[in-house]
Amino acid sequence: MLIFSRKIYVYQVVILSMIFLLSSCNSEVTITEKKGEVDDPIEAKIDSIVSKMSLEEKIGQTAQRGKSSRVKELPKDLKDAVRKGQIGSFLNIMNKEDAKELQRIAVEESPSKIPLIFARDVIHGFKTIFPVPLGQAASFNPTLVQEGSRIAAIEASTYGIRWTFAPMLDISRDPRWGRIAESAGEDPYLTSEMAKAYINGFQGEDLSSPTSMAACAKHFIGYGAAEGGRDYNTANINDNLLHNVYLKPFKSAVDAGSSTFMTSFNDLNGIPASANSYVLKDILREQWGFDGFVVSDWNSIKEMVNHGFAKDQKEAAEKAINAMLDMEMTSTAYQDHLKELIQEGKFSEKELDVIVKNILRIKFRLGLFDNPYFDPNDTVLYAKNHLESAQKAAEESTVLLKNSNQVLPINSKQKIAIIGPLADAPHEQLGTWTFDGEKEHTITPLNAFENDNQYTIAYTNGLSYSRDRSTKNFQKAVSIAKSSDVILFFAGEEAILSGEAHSRAKINLPGEQEALIDELHKTGKPIVLILMAGRPITLENVKDKVDAILMAWHPGTMGGPALKNMITGVVSPSGKLPVTWPKEVGQIPIHYNHKNTGRPVIPEEFVQMDSIPIGAWQSSLGNTSHYLDAGFLPEYPFGYGLSYSLFTYSDISISNNTPKIGDTITVKVTVTNEGNSTAKETVQLYFRDMVGSITRPVKELLRFQKITLGAGESKEVSFTFVTDDLAFYGPDKTWITEPGDFKLWIAKNASDESNVLEFTIE
Ligand code: NOJ
Repeated sequence: MLIFSRKIYVYQVVILSMIFLLSSCNSEVTITEKKGEVDDPIEAKIDSIVSKMSLEEKIGQTAQRGKSSRVKELPKDLKDAVRKGQIGSFLNIMNKEDAKELQRIAVEESPSKIPLIFARDVIHGFKTIFPVPLGQAASFNPTLVQEGSRIAAIEASTYGIRWTFAPMLDISRDPRWGRIAESAGEDPYLTSEMAKAYINGFQGEDLSSPTSMAACAKHFIGYGAAEGGRDYNTANINDNLLHNVYLKPFKSAVDAGSSTFMTSFNDLNGIPASANSYVLKDILREQWGFDGFVVSDWNSIKEMVNHGFAKDQKEAAEKAINAMLDMEMTSTAYQDHLKELIQEGKFSEKELDVIVKNILRIKFRLGLFDNPYFDPNDTVLYAKNHLESAQKAAEESTVLLKNSNQVLPINSKQKIAIIGPLADAPHEQLGTWTFDGEKEHTITPLNAFENDNQYTIAYTNGLSYSRDRSTKNFQKAVSIAKSSDVILFFAGEEAILSGEAHSRAKINLPGEQEALIDELHKTGKPIVLILMAGRPITLENVKDKVDAILMAWHPGTMGGPALKNMITGVVSPSGKLPVTWPKEVGQIPIHYNHKNTGRPVIPEEFVQMDSIPIGAWQSSLGNTSHYLDAGFLPEYPFGYGLSYSLFTYSDISISNNTPKIGDTITVKVTVTNEGNSTAKETVQLYFRDMVGSITRPVKELLRFQKITLGAGESKEVSFTFVTDDLAFYGPDKTWITEPGDFKLWIAKNASDESNVLEFTIE
């Protein structure tokens, strides 16, 4: 397999094939024991500790527990459990004294003195909140994303948090799914680049530094393919799609050294992910050589009973442990049943040793054995450079979707009406998964304009929150609008409308926001619609009533100043969509990297429903893959985003039109900023493998580069790739680059076909 480079490890593969006479499933058990790198002194230490541990302590290492935030004191039974070595990890312990005390008990009083590891969902910032991950992906700037996750680790580690449940790498093709906000969107390559950036940032250069956090690639796997976008739902993903799309970012996570993985809630092709040996053992451990540990999602082992995959928690534990799922989050199937399962011969203590070693390996790499405590000094929280970085991330994440008559940027002579439920909603602009972000530290767009006395503004929200159905304040909004030159309308979704368990069947602006836009439109004043949301929002009812649209996602702590800079032209928007933006919900799933089908769309032959004659003879009309009513185009394609500048591409070239397998190919383009101010452009390189032994997508993102160009400046951008980068997982279950014809597009977005190159692999 050539496409993925592998780290050089020495694996000691211990294959234990045991036919258990007593086993209810009569299963054959195969385990792989990974022994780390050559001469790694950690391995000898781990072996020595494990050899002295009792069975109870070993089971204890697999347990992750939390403490209810409603309980003030540390419960005695929790402390006793740590004292007995019955707990390996905690999540959500947010009292520093509690964390310190639990750690003290673990390293001073428990039998083997193994440190605890404290975990938390630090997803897009700890105190200083960055844009939601979907927004960060829109920046197409991995360097910035890495900087943001480094800052998150620096801040979170002051609370003893050395393990974050991030990044979420689920490919998301369905904006109804609330967790799309936590993803990097629909593309495997972009998500893989984001995976590396997050992991490098969280883990830092040295995992043992007290400011580093172990990363957790989640959710393994298929969570984003939930049926109908309903959270937790079934995922049916064939092998082709699984390998060529869904697994790719997770492989990057292993290559980037992600310390841990988390299983997903869903069943994958009928087998719940938390007991899926094919993905957990065959792929993650055997093929990819992952040597960290895997944690279940919250109760996901126990939930296999609900899935109808295990008759009770004991059977659920048996199935999960035999798939080598190392740690159980919150539920207690392992704690309650592992001992019994081992006594009954359904799992062996030797196999359990492998699991415990996986967990200890990460605790060693984090330096917890040498330095189990943390520096509680939180002067770094909201540090100046953290806020600056969060602002930059918010600026680069914002996508300009429409700008008719160059209504943007506005100037300081214009009287501005600031209206809308998200104009001054400090909690909402932080987005999903921000338990630690504080609205008191958030700067809203209204604050940002108020703090700058060059601008004349008038404000009313019109609607007090995004779902508000009361029109009682419309009149005031209209009157403010009438006496201004331009309307900035801040609309979208509250933070709680995306994220876990927050799927929506309709993804338009909720509440009466569309009605308020109607009223404002009647004033005849130009409207700039600024969206804050965790997903693309269908705009059918409003897009023609507004002059400009900026998508800010949920931009985080510094969203206000970032948006003000964008709106006033201090910064030119440079975000690009990491996900195809549908016109209507009925088009979902819609993604740029679809297959061509036997009857691809022929735009000229498309017949819109209203043009079909009444009583028309039965026919298959345009005979192509489209909707009679919604057509075949999205609202905006993947990779799309406007700028205040105009960029032109010229002098495109390819180093070799007839490469051989293994060759390197370089593609070049000259990009010119034709505008009169500095701006950023993301140049995108797509390819198509024209004929394959399995059908290939019409386009796949191969590379991208974000560059900054001064007014009138030109730069040569060059992309280099090898033929292995074009490989796919084929019918014989191996990665292959097949000789034949390829097309390349150097493009501004996935629909831009102006610059095409061709080559043939011989
Ligand atoms: C459930 C979520 O699915 C997962 O992503 C998260 O990390 C855990 N809960 C812990 O909060």
